[in-house]
This record gives sequence, C-alpha cells and structure tokens, in this order.
Amino acid sequence: MEEFKDYLKILKSLGFNEIFIEKEEQSVKATDKIKLLKEIEEQIKNCTKCELHLSRTKAVPGEGNPDAKLMFVGEAPGGDEDKQGRPFVGRAGKLLTKMIEATGHKREEFYITNTVKCRPPNNRTPTPWEQETCWPYLEKQIELINPKVICLLGAAAGYAFLKRPVKITKERGQIIKWNNRLLYLTYHPAYVLRNLQAEPILLQDIKKAIELAYSQEE
Ligand code: URA
Repeated sequence: MEEFKDYLKILKSLGFNEIFIEKEEQSVKATDKIKLLKEIEEQIKNCTKCELHLSRTKAVPGEGNPDAKLMFVGEAPGGDEDKQGRPFVGRAGKLLTKMIEATGHKREEFYITNTVKCRPPNNRTPTPWEQETCWPYLEKQIELINPKVICLLGAAAGYAFLKRPVKITKERGQIIKWNNRLLYLTYHPAYVLRNLQAEPILLQDIKKAIELAYSQEE
C-alpha cells in the first residue's frame, strides 16, 4: 500500500489529479515496479562491491518518475549528492534542473541517475572497472523504467554505455540506437558551468532529447 501511495504522489506531482484504474492487474504492475526499484535502491545503499563505498557518506541510487520516457545519466555523485543521497542537487544539478524547466518540463517527469552510485574521492572520474561493477544496478533501473531515450551527460556516461572513449565535443548531439532505445549524447552540466558558451547547446540538446522521448515515432 505504501508503494501505491508513493506512486499516487508521483502522479500528483506530475499534475494528475484523478486516475481511473481499468484493471486491478495494471495497478499491481505499477506497484511491483516501485517495489523493485526500491529493492535496487536498498541494494545500492548496502553495496560494498567496489572501494567507492569506503569513502561515501550516502549512496545515490537515482530518483524520478518510474515511468519516465527519458532518463538522464550523469557521471557520478559529487559532494552535495554524497551528503544528500540525491542525484544532481549541487551546482551542476541546479543547472540541469533550470534547463529542464526552461523547456517547459519538470525534473520529476524524468528519471535521473549516474553511472556509479557512490562519489569517487575528490570527484575524480570513475574508473572503467568501477563503472562496470556498478553497471548491473543501472541496467536493472533501465529495464524497469523502460525509457525510450537515455540522455548521456558527458564523456564518462558515454563510456559506460558505449564501452569506448567518447569525445563529447565531437559526438554530442548524436542519436545512437542502443538495445531498442535511443542514446542522446550531450555535455555534462559541470562542463557547461566552466564553458558558458556551451550553455545554449546543452539547452538545445535537452530540448531535443525530450522531444525524441515524447515523439510518437519509433
Ligand atoms: N555530477 C554528476 O555526474 N552527477 C551528479 O549527480 C552530480 C554531479
């Protein structure tokens, strides 16, 4: 019942004031999904599979709409995220949220997470091995949420999915078919904070990723 209440809260935050349940089967499916996502969160919070757990304050599993059509995947939690246990809540996160809002959408419509769920010391880039070790959590989140589009924020997110180095300045804006989904590569908001000329490009990319996610075309 608690999971169903959480689901209703999410729907309300998205502006749905009424729901019509046609079949009991459908609501059970939705609550199952939330339950399974919570189970993954718990596994992440207790994870000791790599050394990043040693220095974390809080693991950062991810947050957002369990039925999101678009998922944002960043590199790794930073200091603010590590303190709060929530993704993209620091300066880079505020920029991401501001840009989503500038497109007329809400952050809560989407699911936001990272390639690794614990902060690397001194905010270094996660190693390929750390990304690989954490990958099953992200893979399971993707499978359950089933987004049409995954927006990869920065080269490290690109690496986790494509398993090859990504030159983001050259490859951003590319749409890549991946396991029946679309990957959309763009800048990391932290890069944009250091290179303000890239701000309109990130905004345009976020707009495009949202359009792709909501378009009826396959
Ligand atoms: N940078 C990331 O890649 N992820 C966060 O959650 C915050 C900053």
